[in-house]
Amino acid sequence: MENTLLLIKPNATEQNAVGRILAMAEENNMVIQKLRMFNFTDEIAQNFYAEHVGREFYEPLMKFMKSGKTVGVVLSGDNAVKNLRALLGNTNPEEANPGTVRALFGENTRRNACHGSDSAESAKREISLIFPEYVFINKNKDGLTWFKRFTKLSGE
Ligand code: CMP
Repeated sequence: MENTLLLIKPNATEQNAVGRILAMAEENNMVIQKLRMFNFTDEIAQNFYAEHVGREFYEPLMKFMKSGKTVGVVLSGDNAVKNLRALLGNTNPEEANPGTVRALFGENTRRNACHGSDSAESAKREISLIFPEYVFINKNKDGLTWFKRFTKLSGE
């Protein structure tokens, strides 16, 4: 059992593709554990994409992520990190395999419809940024125990 974070980005929510993308995840053995719709604020975007500061695509990426609604989803399942990334396809939609989410809904490398965590460690960090009111502890192989905190995500 593993958790990963899916972000359905503003260009996908604009396309009314949220339901179709969630269905693809569910049909591929991933279970929705948590879900929220929100708008990226400067603070959340800067934290989330801190590793990309200084890259040439950083500023346009920040602007894009703040341009509309995002859906954050915690998905669980066996090999969820790897499975989600395979389902999303290549970062560049032009290179994504047919039938993958980015081939279907991505427009270009920036407006690529979705984000999926690249490792279990990244997933943990990213989930805590998008779902700050929860602390989750991977107690055993059967799943998670969620503890609710009483803070709200700003931007929601
Ligand atoms: P994501 O999975 O959200 O992680 C980082 C994001 O930066 C990536 O998806 C793209 O949206 C964006 N990105 C990465 N590389 C490039 C690039 N070369 N040009 C434009 N945007 C990029």
